[in-house]
Amino acid sequence: MRIAVFSSKPYDRDTFTAANAAHGHSLQFFEAALSVETCSLAEEAEAVCVFVNDTVDAHLLRCVAGCGVKTVALRCAGFNNVDLPVAKELGINVVRVPAYSPYAVAEHAVVLMLTLNRKTHRAYNRVREGNFSLNGLLGFDLHGKTVGIVGTGRIGAVLAKIMTGFGCTVLAEDVYLNPDCVALGVQYVDRHTLFSQSDIISLHCPLTPETRHIINPLSIALMKHGVMLINTGRGALIETRAVIAGLKSGHVGALAMDVYEQEEGLFFEDHSNEIIQDDLLERLLTFHNVLITSHQGYFTREALSAIAETTLNNLSQIERGEVCANAL
Ligand code: NAI
Repeated sequence: MRIAVFSSKPYDRDTFTAANAAHGHSLQFFEAALSVETCSLAEEAEAVCVFVNDTVDAHLLRCVAGCGVKTVALRCAGFNNVDLPVAKELGINVVRVPAYSPYAVAEHAVVLMLTLNRKTHRAYNRVREGNFSLNGLLGFDLHGKTVGIVGTGRIGAVLAKIMTGFGCTVLAEDVYLNPDCVALGVQYVDRHTLFSQSDIISLHCPLTPETRHIINPLSIALMKHGVMLINTGRGALIETRAVIAGLKSGHVGALAMDVYEQEEGLFFEDHSNEIIQDDLLERLLTFHNVLITSHQGYFTREALSAIAETTLNNLSQIERGEVCANAL
């Protein structure tokens, strides 16, 4: 199949080219995101392959369909960036990679937690400048603390297991009980209880109309003073202005975000020679107790290989006319 791969970085080319040895598709890589302006690059292609920040809305889907594209292959798990009803109406298949490495994202959430707690991001800079003072670096034992996990699917369940290993009490909120978590001793509670009893809250649910801005002024008011918030889910789970207000008052004691509501166009790219125009992001970057990473939770060798293999397998199945289990 002829596949136009958009938003592709050198590491995507490497993993897709290696995985394609078993499939023999014709891959064309483009650094540009898929957009109305760039979709003509897909004129020869039967499928476009896009990443998490390519917004495949109704208008773009119509343009893509006009180029003869029959399939949109998402090389990510989340699909909040695609207008699925319009894709269906146009007869465009949409496939995704529902799971690649839950360990990658769960382990990144732990990295963020430990860094914020023990302030290794600050210690690293201090020591390099000859400042060996410990003032301001005081952390807490994770052992005995309560961690609240919103969404105990693949990633949340791995995190629950890791946090149990640290000796934490794990509370969870989900629309389904995960039997693996129940077996671990995770206590399922309602959201109100999770927010009010947790020392650390980590978000692992998808972005839906129901979960959009679940971190908002009202939910922050329920939380413990000094709560640590970790978001490796989707940016819009957090209402940015509300969390900034919480950080300013000290109610939110620390915040880590691997995802950001307005990350599109910023994350994954080098903007170091530009003036960043996003004032909320810039305000967040002024807090010493805020840690932002550029959507790198998924970024491990194992995850990249799994993403390439699953994406190409999805497309091979569609080419052979088989039912693709990862179709949306
Ligand atoms: P999953 O589908 O296995 O688990 C999601 C869980 O959230 C399910 O158990 C589901 O029942 C639950 N859920 C749905 N609606 C909910 C609600 N209203 N309240 C509470 N729980 C709810 O997904 P997985 O693989 O664990 O991924 C979770 C999220 O992580 C994805 O939706 C995606 O947004 C994000 N993600 C982030 C990555 C990164 O690089 N930072 C990479 C991969 C995923």
